[in-house]
Amino acid sequence: ATRTEPVVVRTPAELDRIRPGLGRIALVPTMGALHAGHRGLIAAARERADSVVVSIFVNPLQFGPGEDLDRYPRTFEADLRACAEEGVAAVYAPGVETMYPGEQLVTVDPGPMADVLEGASRPGHFRGVLTVVAKLFHMVRPDVALFGQKDAQQLAVVRRMVRDLAFPVAVEAVPTMRDPDGLAISSRNVYLSEAERASARALSRALLAGADAAVTGPIGILGAAREVLDRAAAADPPVELDYLALIDAHTFAEVPADHRGDAVLAVAAKVGSTRLIDNVPLTL
Ligand code: PAJ
Repeated sequence: ATRTEPVVVRTPAELDRIRPGLGRIALVPTMGALHAGHRGLIAAARERADSVVVSIFVNPLQFGPGEDLDRYPRTFEADLRACAEEGVAAVYAPGVETMYPGEQLVTVDPGPMADVLEGASRPGHFRGVLTVVAKLFHMVRPDVALFGQKDAQQLAVVRRMVRDLAFPVAVEAVPTMRDPDGLAISSRNVYLSEAERASARALSRALLAGADAAVTGPIGILGAAREVLDRAAAADPPVELDYLALIDAHTFAEVPADHRGDAVLAVAAKVGSTRLIDNVPLTL
């Protein structure tokens, strides 16, 4: 059902003008190209506050050279319709010149958690993420902010920034939304050809195989997932594995072979020219 159109604001001054009417604010930070995963975050946000603010900003600071900044999907009109349907109060869509009026000399150091996995494959990525998230928190001043489990390491570094830098905001995680074939929904899935998409299903199948082997412990879990990924590496088109790791959800350190308790099985791979990530929380 279509509801009232969200108000679109472009600057911190405009945010200041509307903030008194918003009550308790839940912020859903996004880079646009909104899909069912984002909508899940918005629906969860609605339950936690009086008003939902969705930010839409493709953050150049978190893209490395040679990454997909220029071809990142931009679908603003469709995003606004999705926000209207989901009962969003305001969309904050600043321009690059508003977020980065000069050279960004001071940035947020994500610490050692950003040295592994996504951070190792994408140098500077989490510094860019935390810097923009910190700025969005200061501009919007939400009571609660929602992040997807899909980007587990992003969630972990944001939680750590909030704790270590005493941001007055509650961070909440929302489970990963998947397409019926198991593929984690992502704005980047639009890059996949039909054949690439068929190969890409191996990521979620590998995680499921790992989860099914949870009782066998870390070595069994990784072995079961690896078996699926080895087969996918030989498929056409191939799934080129970047990493498969079983890590502690809070520190992002790999868990020891005798680990018991909670963990996250995470995978990253390239299919064609598209880099995909996925993960599943497990209890061993
Ligand atoms: P973006 O990729 O647009 O994702 C916005 C939020 O949606 C993130 O919290 C992400 O984890 C969540 N999300 C994406 N796909 C999801 C899915 N299938 N299920 C559940 N949640 C999902 O992540 C970013 O933007 C940026 O790094 C940002 C935090 C906005 C900073 O620029």
